[in-house]
Amino acid sequence: MIRMLQSQYILIFSLLFSLPIVFFLAPRFLSPRQLPIPLPDELDDLSLFNRAISSSFSSPSSSTFSFSRLGSHNPTLKIAFLFLTNSDLFFSPLWNRFFNSTSSKFYNIYIHADPDSHLSDPGGVFKGRFIPSKHTERSSATLISAAKRLMATAILDDPLNFYFALVSQSCIPLHSFDFVYKTLLGSNAFGFRHVRHKSFIEILENESILPSRYVARGKNVMMPEVPYDEFRVGSQFFVLTKKHALMVLKDRRLWRKFRLPCFKIEACYPEEHYFPTLLSMNDPNGCTQYTLTRVNWTDSVNGHPHMYRPPEVSPELIYTLRQSNFSHDYLFARKFSVDCLKPLMDMADSVIFND
Ligand SMILES: *[C@@H]1O[C@H](CO)[C@@H](O)[C@H](O)[C@H]1NC(C)=O
Ligand SMILES: *[C@@H]1O[C@H](CO)[C@@H](O)[C@H](O)[C@H]1NC(C)=O
Ligand SMILES: *[C@@H]1O[C@H](CO)[C@@H](O)[C@H](O)[C@H]1NC(C)=O
Ligand SMILES: *[C@@H]1O[C@H](CO)[C@@H](O)[C@H](O)[C@H]1NC(C)=O
Repeated sequence: MIRMLQSQYILIFSLLFSLPIVFFLAPRFLSPRQLPIPLPDELDDLSLFNRAISSSFSSPSSSTFSFSRLGSHNPTLKIAFLFLTNSDLFFSPLWNRFFNSTSSKFYNIYIHADPDSHLSDPGGVFKGRFIPSKHTERSSATLISAAKRLMATAILDDPLNFYFALVSQSCIPLHSFDFVYKTLLGSNAFGFRHVRHKSFIEILENESILPSRYVARGKNVMMPEVPYDEFRVGSQFFVLTKKHALMVLKDRRLWRKFRLPCFKIEACYPEEHYFPTLLSMNDPNGCTQYTLTRVNWTDSVNGHPHMYRPPEVSPELIYTLRQSNFSHDYLFARKFSVDCLKPLMDMADSVIFND
């Protein structure tokens, strides 16, 4: 009897001891491609983010930019275009046309390219605009890190970068540069004082996908930093003000949770939750709550939106994609297949940039 009890105890104890081990290793077994971000990468990033934060103390950083301090030398605020890619920038000729004839005093370009992707040189305005990059992977927090690296590098590079627009290799412009610049900065870029600029980022609540996305890393894992009713979702593609870019770089609290690997790969899109949740918690009224990047989710497959093919590309498509239910036209759109480049170039000047 005692022997039996003992063996039962041993069984129970060994089960109890192995539970945390199983728990710890489970993400690796269930999703072997999902590894935590390596510590050296995290430390590299931390030092980059801290340098960007310190540099901002001596430069315009608030959303209510005070021009009076600068006297008559009103600087021209810039848009930093942040290209996040893991393949060739196959629409670079279209983007070159977008930036063509625009003075570089209005914008900067930064490219984060997965080092395993061996890009060919996109040339033109993209020449020399690659930033030190690290491996990125779908269904992991590496896409968040890459976006933060782009913002930090842009903040360090040019204190006049004021808006930070994240795009990918399958995004295209829907309007001319002048139109984009006026939409974001308008006449406020000069003259106006204490104008409050908002970030254009989608922030959605009460979406049917939220419960499964919330527990992708395990039950109760997000607590206490991220209660379910503060958990949000939104497009990965946003245009943030410098104030919000810095807010993101300063965050450690939410990052501790969002960087954790998921058990459930099919519910793992950290980059669609981290930014909307963080900004919604800290400054919901400073955000439009909608994105400027149009995407078509009809008949989406495996988390991928509709990809437009050449027969669909027409002036009417561009006009339709621009239309929005919000206060601004869409400025960018995704996703387009590589072979859409030619039909898009053919109507670049007559349609896309003719506004
Ligand atoms: C800009 O456009 C002009 C005229 O269309 C063209 O000659 C020039 O090569 C273009 N430059 C770039 C960088 O595309
Ligand atoms: C989401 O649901 C909560 C609770 O039911 C409600 O208070 C809130 O207004 C809803 N938000 C939207 C945008 O529908
Ligand atoms: C969205 O994609 C569907 C196919 O998935 C297509 O039929 C529809 O025309 C697209 N909508 C727009 C506005 O392009
Ligand atoms: C605008 O709202 C209507 C009605 O909800 C919807 O059918 C349409 O798809 C929306 N348009 C866009 C561009 O989101």
